[in-house]
Amino acid sequence: MDLSAVSKDIERVIVSEEDLQKRIKELAAQVDKDYAGKDLLLLGVLKGAVMAVADLSRALQRHVEMDWMAVSSYGSGTKSSGVVRILKDLDRDITGRNVLIIEDIVDTGLTLSWLKANLESRGAANVEILTILRKPEAAKVEVNVKYIGFDIPSDFVIGYGLDFDEKYRNLPFIGVLAKHMYS
Ligand code: XMP
Ligand code: MG
Repeated sequence: MDLSAVSKDIERVIVSEEDLQKRIKELAAQVDKDYAGKDLLLLGVLKGAVMAVADLSRALQRHVEMDWMAVSSYGSGTKSSGVVRILKDLDRDITGRNVLIIEDIVDTGLTLSWLKANLESRGAANVEILTILRKPEAAKVEVNVKYIGFDIPSDFVIGYGLDFDEKYRNLPFIGVLAKHMYS
């Protein structure tokens, strides 16, 4: 879906499709280099990371396995609480595996710090994080994120996997939702 289909709902585009795709190729080249000679399991966090896993994996010049988790952080509405519930767990055991978590966005960092610790406790050899977006001003906990697409301001964003009321995930760019959409 293009901007013209939703232009009234979007305040501004903060990462264009072109910039996103260029950055994903750069991140893929870095991942190729860092994991050369090692096995690699891409762990996509549903549903937001679907686009990122699809594009990143196709830009990698190596074999990867993919698995998926769905988690939900308890909390009021749009605020993350740090209490995480697993809605869909991994299909396979990760003992001894090199796991790269793929996320759409790191906001407070609470979800990812929980997830990383959870995966490490299952005996993964190595757990790293790749996120398309990070909101540095919103950080509540230190999480070591190895690969970051873009740092963005703390506005609510949509597109490229990110939703508002389950919509807008299929935009190929990242935009800030217009205030009139939720007030
Ligand atoms: P943390 O725990 O880092 O939570 O606060 C990250 C999760 O919160 C959601 N999130 C957003 N979703 N636009 C969205 O569509 C946003 O601007 C946004 N900020 C945070 C998202 O599910 C992410 O995984
Ligand atoms: Mg969401």
